Amino acid sequence: MKEPVRERKAARAGEPDAPRVQRSGRVWQVRSAAAARQLLRERRSTTQAGFTAEAIPKGYLKHHPILMSDGPLHDEQRTKVGRFFAPKVVEAKYLGLMQSCADRLLGDAEASGVVRLDELALLYTVEVTAEAVGLTESPVPAMAKRLVSFFNQPPFDITRPELGRTPRQWAQAAFNGLLPIVRFYARDVRPAIRVRRAQARDDVISHLIAEGYTNADILVECVTYGTAGMVTTREFIAMAAWHLLGNDAVRARYLVAEQAERLAILNEIIRLEPVVGHLYRRVQQPVTFSDQGEEHTAEPGDLIDLCIRPANADPETVGELPLALCPGRPLPRGVNEAVLSFGDGAHKCPGQPLAMLESDVLLRRLLARPVSIVSEPTIEWDDLIAGYALRGFVLRLG
Ligand code: HEM
Repeated sequence: MKEPVRERKAARAGEPDAPRVQRSGRVWQVRSAAAARQLLRERRSTTQAGFTAEAIPKGYLKHHPILMSDGPLHDEQRTKVGRFFAPKVVEAKYLGLMQSCADRLLGDAEASGVVRLDELALLYTVEVTAEAVGLTESPVPAMAKRLVSFFNQPPFDITRPELGRTPRQWAQAAFNGLLPIVRFYARDVRPAIRVRRAQARDDVISHLIAEGYTNADILVECVTYGTAGMVTTREFIAMAAWHLLGNDAVRARYLVAEQAERLAILNEIIRLEPVVGHLYRRVQQPVTFSDQGEEHTAEPGDLIDLCIRPANADPETVGELPLALCPGRPLPRGVNEAVLSFGDGAHKCPGQPLAMLESDVLLRRLLARPVSIVSEPTIEWDDLIAGYALRGFVLRLG
């Protein structure tokens, strides 16, 4: 028998890829793409339980953060913020910035001969996203450093009470989390708010000010954009470069293709290598979902763990060779090209067009140069986004 093709690089040891739907006590694990989509589209019966949302005190906030709010108010927040991230807006407003930023960073890298792509990608994504959000009053390298320090957290397990942490680990989490947030507020967020309260601009922070958000509300949104937007795109860029540098046929296509085909290649890479590995929802009202004709009902209080890696490789949705890189693979109608890598339903990532265009601009410029791998990255795992972190990816340029 032929060995199945397995081109996924970020496969987490010990993470099962079956059964399709599994219940252990109050926790459901869903690995079927169709069932996962159905659950993510249940707009009113579930609430956000990922990214430690349930453990974050919200009493001091006037507005619920976009990532953690649910219901009609959340729909309204999304509609308003959506105008900053629509594909046409993103291309018209940020393409020039992406190109000049990529040229500058790659030019510097070429001059020194070798570069750590994971570090270059961080500076790039922070600079581009900061412009859309409005975090423009502080130097990018220093802000990037502060953003990654949020991730220095003790491990946790969302499926367990108190996230499975000991009181000591909670104290450590508060200490590790609070200090970077205070620094991020003082050096990046507050100066940006001050400038925009005096004179509004066309960015997310100015919009939040106009909506009556307090400084604390804006800080929380900036942390979301920083982690959900900048850090995720950084990981994806490194992963896409790793695949493209190791796959001559796909790289050759990528370098000559028009934008639509290039984006299809990138969406197929992120389908195979989702940056966010698990999404979580808490059931508020009984919710029935089905897989392969079998119905299941989750009850209020149950936790649903949507396992994105197996769901994105579910042959019922993605067809043959689910763990192979096949750009342009046929997908059922209504399924996103990246399947569930950007979520679905009420919380679906508004930043997908920005993330993909941004990645494309940098990768095209990088791969058009003579470039070779000096050392492949190591794969680390992060609990907060339940995703991979590629580190130490050294390339030779020129
Ligand atoms: C490769 C890069 C990215 C990946 C893999 C990614 C992934 C995701 C996923 C899976 C969600 C859904 C969370 C859930 O359903 O619980 C999400 C939400 C979100 N993302 Fe992204 N994202 C990326 C880039 C961006 C960018 C560039 C921005 C904006 C600058 C952004 C802003 C957001 C926001 C604001 C949310 C919350 C939306 C809501 O809860 O309504 N993301 N992202």
